[in-house]
Amino acid sequence: MNLNILIDIFYILAAILFALGLRMLNSPATARKGNLFSAVGMLLAIVATLLVKGLSFQWIIVGAVIGTALGIFAAQRVAMTAMPEMVALLNGSGGLASLLVASAVYHHHPESGALTALTIFLSVLIGGVTFTGSLVAWGKLSEKLPGKPILYPGQQIGNIALLIALLTCGILFTLNPAGNYPIFLLSILFSLILGVLVVIPIGGADMPVVISLLNSYSGLAACATGFVILNNILIVAGALVGASGIILTQIMCKAMNRSLSHVLFSGFGAVPHPRTEGPHGEVKALSIADAYFILEAARSVVFVPGYGMAVAQAQYAVRELAKLLEANGTEVRYAIHPVAGRMPGHMNVLLAEANVPYEQLVEMDAINRIMETLDVAIVIGANDVVNPAARNDKSSPIYGMPIINVDKAKTVFVMKRSLGAGFAGVQNDLFYYENTRMILGDAKQSVQNLIAEFKAGRST
Ligand code: TAP
Repeated sequence: MNLNILIDIFYILAAILFALGLRMLNSPATARKGNLFSAVGMLLAIVATLLVKGLSFQWIIVGAVIGTALGIFAAQRVAMTAMPEMVALLNGSGGLASLLVASAVYHHHPESGALTALTIFLSVLIGGVTFTGSLVAWGKLSEKLPGKPILYPGQQIGNIALLIALLTCGILFTLNPAGNYPIFLLSILFSLILGVLVVIPIGGADMPVVISLLNSYSGLAACATGFVILNNILIVAGALVGASGIILTQIMCKAMNRSLSHVLFSGFGAVPHPRTEGPHGEVKALSIADAYFILEAARSVVFVPGYGMAVAQAQYAVRELAKLLEANGTEVRYAIHPVAGRMPGHMNVLLAEANVPYEQLVEMDAINRIMETLDVAIVIGANDVVNPAARNDKSSPIYGMPIINVDKAKTVFVMKRSLGAGFAGVQNDLFYYENTRMILGDAKQSVQNLIAEFKAGRST
């Protein structure tokens, strides 16, 4: 069989496996299989690409060794809580790779036609923005940069001017790539600057949208690079990542009840927000022994996990407590807010790790419909996603964001270490509500204490 036909067959098979893999990621029950399908697809794509005639293997081996070593080192060192930062860096690496490949092609073949020049420019533009944008997102997520939006006078006009300068560079470059090397270098520089400038004004609760948007950009950059090097599978894979990232971005916008333009241009919570409305007064702390008595009598309990559960690594303890509750005849559910944690699906991953049955996971709208009938809502390290200010306080930066209405349950336990704010930096009046009881301390420790109390209660 002709080698090119074999390569194309491999590519088509890989594309089918990617599409099927993505489809299976739709449900937690098939997600592992979906990952496997996609991985096999990627293996086929790599094998087929290595079959292309005239490749210089020495550089491929050097790249593969360095990449593998870095990958193993990073993956082994990363803490589970730092996964969102790692994902941000991986998005950025995708953007940088596209920028470098397109630049190398241009460097070796500056005489390319207008269409190739255009795709080179797009790879550099989208790749550059993705790279530095992701670095800023990484800085914000890891709190190495301020999480709050950075705003200054003339910001939007400055960004628009930069975009116009970039587009002008793009036109000049596309019309005459061979004679415009300096313009090409300028395009790289402007793209890198633009990436920083478009992400610094976004912060707080809007970050999920940025993360998924950058993920989509990394796919679009790869897709453009696929056109540069005329590699069909890169075009297909890039388009799949780009499209799924855009869909995820839409889901995140919906979860925040914000439009994309609002997220990109409004500067979340840049103006400090005085707490004006909502109940004030004393918070009511609850001892573990009293919490046990309430839970022991509860017929229905919902766990509402948030970022603090990831920090405390409390998911296994939560699952153990849930089993004890079930053994006591209590109906247990887990309510998942779409932006809880620091990356899309963060809570689902943690709970799956602890073997929580999928059918006990309930989405926000579904749990809100029955919240008033539930005896106890146990908030485990969640804060912004249960803050009633989003419903009640028009002046709050998170006003309008759908939340899990734990305050409507008969009793609410809040497990966290202090009365401090969450990622968005907004105070939470839930702590002062009549039906709220605070269990202050590390979430894992508190849940383990409850487990011990349950076990002691059972044996007496
Ligand atoms: P947050 O509002 O960030 O609240 C987490 C809470 O966990 C903190 O208030 C903290 O309070 C508590 N905590 C930390 N360590 C703990 C520990 N060891 N034990 C017990 N509690 C602990 O989390 P959330 O409710 O999940 O909301 C997510 C926020 O992140 C939203 O604003 C969302 O927009 C944003 N965000 C989400 C994403 C994605 S894609 N999901 C990406 C970026 C940003 P103490 O310090 O008092 O313990």
